[in-house]
Amino acid sequence: MTQRKSFGSDNHTGTHPAVLRAMVEANSGDAVSYGADEWTGRVTARLREMFRAEGGAFLVLNGSGANILGLSVLLRRHEAVICAASAHINTDECGASERLLGAKLLTVPTADGKLTPEQIADQLSGRGDDHRSQPGVVAITQSTELGTCYTIAEMRKIADFCHANGLLLFLDGARLANAAAFLGCTLAELGECVDVLSFGATKNGAIGAEALIVMRSGLGADVPYLRKQQTQLTSKMRFVAAQFGALLHDDLWRANATHANAMARRLADEASAVPGVEIVHPVQANAVFARLPARHIEALQRDWTFHLWDERESVVRWMTAFDTSEADVDAFAADIRERAVVSRVT
Ligand SMILES: Cc1ncc(COP(=O)(O)O)c(C=O)c1O
Repeated sequence: MTQRKSFGSDNHTGTHPAVLRAMVEANSGDAVSYGADEWTGRVTARLREMFRAEGGAFLVLNGSGANILGLSVLLRRHEAVICAASAHINTDECGASERLLGAKLLTVPTADGKLTPEQIADQLSGRGDDHRSQPGVVAITQSTELGTCYTIAEMRKIADFCHANGLLLFLDGARLANAAAFLGCTLAELGECVDVLSFGATKNGAIGAEALIVMRSGLGADVPYLRKQQTQLTSKMRFVAAQFGALLHDDLWRANATHANAMARRLADEASAVPGVEIVHPVQANAVFARLPARHIEALQRDWTFHLWDERESVVRWMTAFDTSEADVDAFAADIRERAVVSRVT
């Protein structure tokens, strides 16, 4: 039997063939290490140009590393980070920001994973009180952990609020490609109003490659040292760069994200027609959050891989990736339909 496609995560997927080819090409002969090679030079120059980043582009190995590095550039030692309660830095990084940076996270419950200026303002009441950790950075995620996207206008409003109130803005862009594809905008438009952001390649078809993009010129100087200190300066950096090179070529990153998003849309459309299945967040990137009866979830999980996101609310997360096919979606949706009936009568 052929293996069923996983809808568990865009991390479950393999590597895009173009990325593998680029790795093989980069494997010819020796190259200087720690990012002084020509692949890294080319790719970081291209990223800088695409984002119009004045402070530089720095390659790292994973998304958590990019988040920690980005926050460490922006935070002073007594400062806190305001973020959505659902933010990856709060829920899924083993407390790295708290442990490694010593930064308090001021978490805000949100309906859809998106912060608003009003919610950020509510977190500022302890300012000037030396008993309280001082809010210094706002962290947003684009696309969010709940599969939604900030519009450019929403991002600008947040940025304007932050900058008017002495806060710096960090963006976790592990799925920035999916947001750019949904919004139909450039990477420069997404980076424009933030101070520092990450740009993820891993979930877009790479093996393991992320970039930290520093938008403001004054903020980039410490990054090389902090990256090394935080163990994110890999010696054979050319292979990280080669992965990015493949995804940046002919905007493969955008094609991959556009496809993944379209597969999520298709799945949401098909699943929402099944009685008892409710889509709980707008489907704007490559994630579908759905509420369905517990017995229905159990029946599906016997054969399909996906996360039970919120057991109490009976909400699951289905994710698509660059290599999810229409046939994969249709087969899964057919089973969602079929097991809805079976789980009602058994
Ligand atoms: C929004 C977001 N940020 C950061 C990360 C961290 O990536 P990594 O697992 O590569 O550290 C993830 C991983 O799933 C993520 O979903």
